[in-house]
Amino acid sequence: MPHPLEQLRDEALRQIESATDEQALETTRVKYLGRSGSISSWGEKMKALAKEEKPVVGKLLNEVRNAVTAAIESRNAQFHLQKESGALAKIDISLPGTPHEIGSLHPLHQMHERGIQIFRRMGFALAEGPDVETEWYCFDALNTPPDHPARNEQDTFYLSDGRLLRTHTSTVQIRAMESAPPPLRVIASGAAYRRDEVDATHSAQFHQIEGLYVDENVSVADLKGELEFFMRELFGPGTDVQFRPHYFPFTEPSLEVYVRSKALKRGEQWIEVAGCGMVHPAVFEAVNKARDDKAYEPEKWSGYACGLGMDRLAMILFDIPDIRLFAQNDLRFLRQFA
Ligand code: DAH
Repeated sequence: MPHPLEQLRDEALRQIESATDEQALETTRVKYLGRSGSISSWGEKMKALAKEEKPVVGKLLNEVRNAVTAAIESRNAQFHLQKESGALAKIDISLPGTPHEIGSLHPLHQMHERGIQIFRRMGFALAEGPDVETEWYCFDALNTPPDHPARNEQDTFYLSDGRLLRTHTSTVQIRAMESAPPPLRVIASGAAYRRDEVDATHSAQFHQIEGLYVDENVSVADLKGELEFFMRELFGPGTDVQFRPHYFPFTEPSLEVYVRSKALKRGEQWIEVAGCGMVHPAVFEAVNKARDDKAYEPEKWSGYACGLGMDRLAMILFDIPDIRLFAQNDLRFLRQFA
């Protein structure tokens, strides 16, 4: 006479075998193995058994449970297989396939990579900072006082918690100096944001490449040499580079950079492409304050910084007439750079 558990097992296995779909199978599972299923309930029944019977029935219960579970799993796998082959049967393999379109790098991304490549050859390492910044990194540490127009709510996107979208990549200068003592030679490439009126040359989101070099005896000559090299690598050896005096709070002296090249479609016209200058001592002092040391002693260290308009550079390089094209996702535009 088989044990009642063995009878239950055989009964369950028969039902599993004859289940016609997943739902019937699930009903069977619940009936035998569910919390109050007829096999499961033997767990309770065991308690009433004589001491010497317990291990024997316990072992049997385990075997039965395992056998039924395994049968359910394998039946389930059969159903899945049937479903998949059913779906495959509907596919007509004689129809032409759907070709995958191969994408390409966005022109701004290409510009970003070319910029980084040129700076790397001059020994610059890549640094990073977030797009969402604090006023400290965007303004205060960069010697930009609270009443400076750049901080006006009309000019900058503020978040309700007082943070803001960085208005330039110069923020990364401060982050880099806070995290490492001089000498330092870094670039950062990324987005910046301003509440500009959007037109052919202005966008609320644009891109910059920032450069910072701090060492002993860095001079304006180093700065000019670096930027002339950069512009000639990018636009060709016949490129003229011009520096015009300007004002930025975080550099002294400050300069604007213009380029002109016969090789470019825009020909003889001077085009402004960057701001630059010698790092202001107040910036070093702010960094020292944040670092709580004297690592950037202005008497000892000097440095130059520059911020290149990446969209502007790409527009000149690829002869793109309108900055809005970068963000419109128009494939007719993007395919030209593939
Ligand atoms: N941050 C400036 C801007 O967005 C550009 C700039 C000027 C960056 C001078 C610099 C610099 O690093 O030294 O207008």
